[in-house]
Amino acid sequence: MTLFSAQEAAKATVKEAADIVEVIGEHVALKKTGTRYTGLCPFHGEKTPSFSVNPQGQFYYCFGCGASGDVFSFVMQFHHLDFPEALKQLAAKYRIELPERQLSEAEQARLRLREQLYAVHEAAAQCYEQTLVDTRLGAQAREYLRQRGVPDEAISHYRLGFAPDPAAAGWDYLARNLCGQGFAAELLLQAGLVLSGKRGGHYDRFRSRVLFPLEDMSGRITAFGGRILGEGQPKYMNSPESLIFSKSRQLFGLYPHREAIRTTRRVLVVEGNFDLLLLAVHGIDNVVAPLGTALSREHVHSLKKYCDEVVLLFDADAAGLKAAMRSIPFFLEEALDGLVALLPKGHDPDSFVREQGRTAIDSLVDGALPLAEFVLGNLIGEHGLTLDGKGRIVEELKPLIQAATKREQRELMVSHFAAKLGVSASYFNSGKTGPVPSAPPTDPGPTTVAPLQTLGRQEKQLFDFLLFWPEYCGPLQEAGLIEVVRSPALRRMLELMEAHGAATASQPEYLLAAPLEPEERAYVIARLMQPAPLAAGGPDTTPQLMFDQLLVWVRQQRQRQNAASLQQQLQEAEQAGDNKRVWELLRIKQQGKKQRGDPSP
Ligand code: UTP
Ligand code: MN
Repeated sequence: MTLFSAQEAAKATVKEAADIVEVIGEHVALKKTGTRYTGLCPFHGEKTPSFSVNPQGQFYYCFGCGASGDVFSFVMQFHHLDFPEALKQLAAKYRIELPERQLSEAEQARLRLREQLYAVHEAAAQCYEQTLVDTRLGAQAREYLRQRGVPDEAISHYRLGFAPDPAAAGWDYLARNLCGQGFAAELLLQAGLVLSGKRGGHYDRFRSRVLFPLEDMSGRITAFGGRILGEGQPKYMNSPESLIFSKSRQLFGLYPHREAIRTTRRVLVVEGNFDLLLLAVHGIDNVVAPLGTALSREHVHSLKKYCDEVVLLFDADAAGLKAAMRSIPFFLEEALDGLVALLPKGHDPDSFVREQGRTAIDSLVDGALPLAEFVLGNLIGEHGLTLDGKGRIVEELKPLIQAATKREQRELMVSHFAAKLGVSASYFNSGKTGPVPSAPPTDPGPTTVAPLQTLGRQEKQLFDFLLFWPEYCGPLQEAGLIEVVRSPALRRMLELMEAHGAATASQPEYLLAAPLEPEERAYVIARLMQPAPLAAGGPDTTPQLMFDQLLVWVRQQRQRQNAASLQQQLQEAEQAGDNKRVWELLRIKQQGKKQRGDPSP
């Protein structure tokens, strides 16, 4: 078995050939500053450059939004491609031949079917769009949209359409139209656009409905959601799942709103299609809506590519709360901030923005609560904080914790909730719902290292100093720094700093080339965005002075450690009655004191 797949080999060749400065330079005006290049970040809106490209390390990063990666991630992020597509594009640019994988018959057939499904959806969308503007067939739908506050620009921007009333247009209005264009009835069936009639023939799925086309991330239409005109059941009808449509993966609005979401680094999630539409009409366009499902793991994962913060905007009903609870583990997993903002009773975002305007939504969103706080607050409200109440809350939280797939996340949730409720973490491990698969957080075990965020104040200062003044890492390490640092997270960073060129680094960003964990990277980037802790050559404290103090501190700590260990050995020797050893140790101790200039006892 080869460990190196053909794709990995191709990736290595392309990476070798590609020049990140050249590739990024085609899209971003880069200016050489020192050893790196800087420019305006293409991934978020900014006026002063915080985007930087490092030609030695062949990576880029942005202090503003945290985007970072190599030449492949740039092409993927910038052009919205997946990895194989990015590889193909770069290979073409640098004239590198990629091994063509032979597709099986079945694979080729699937690929063809996908293309046909896209084509038939596009044709259907055009038919529905034209019907909406059609004087006779679309009149009622145009009036409906006007009453709901949707202007013509929004209709054309979101490509809204209308499936007409069968009484006026027949039950096979779309089927006739598309078959007339040469699409096979079988394909329409597979796309879910038509259904088979009992006595043969086909009739349209969508009738008397305003249609919302749903686009995938390449902008191709994969499905429709349809709202009935006025009253009627079901209120909404969506396309069935297909080769190109999965409702747990796709989000209405993500494609047209991707730039707005990327720029604000935040996305609002609303429940309804009209909620999304009306917010956008009022100028809030960093918004998406799932298609009548709760936010799934895949949804959260795809949002992660565009923003740092997801605000769930819910009606104050129980269904929304339950859905929010279920999404907590996904946010933990993706290390994405999930927040909740509740609408006043009786409102949804659509009615609220129409009544109160954009600023009301903005302030609601600004006051959003972290998801975990929100859920816990609701449970406390429901059950109270009596012993019995706490028991019930724990029982409700357990399935939530079990839903998290990684052990560290479960531990994190257990310790978080246990602390908030003032109960022991072991409480979460006992009881009816079976064991919570986690170790008590008091014993994190050898594999979990506390994150950098939990460093104490002094450790943080030390880290800051070493990050910004890497030239002092070497001398401090030689003095035994690592032995006197307690936090495993900080010790790990010291090792990474040393191993990744602190000694020769000219800028603190060198550390970003090290294999940092996502939280570590986020922490380092956040820190790099702040000013350096000391001004070089500043009046009061200079890096040199700080270094001198640290050196003294390291030496003192080392001496203390040595003294403690000497004392330990002395005690052991005394207890063992090993007088020769006792005298020897006493002599060492005395010598140490003389060297430090301590007075003799
Ligand atoms: P709502 O019933 O809350 O929708 O359903 P809404 O947007 O407030 O409806 P109107 O148009 O303003 O009266 C929220 C979302 O859930 C999905 C739809 O995607 C809808 O936008 N849904 C709802 C369905 O898929 N099927 C249904 O029968 C109802
Ligand atoms: Mn509504």
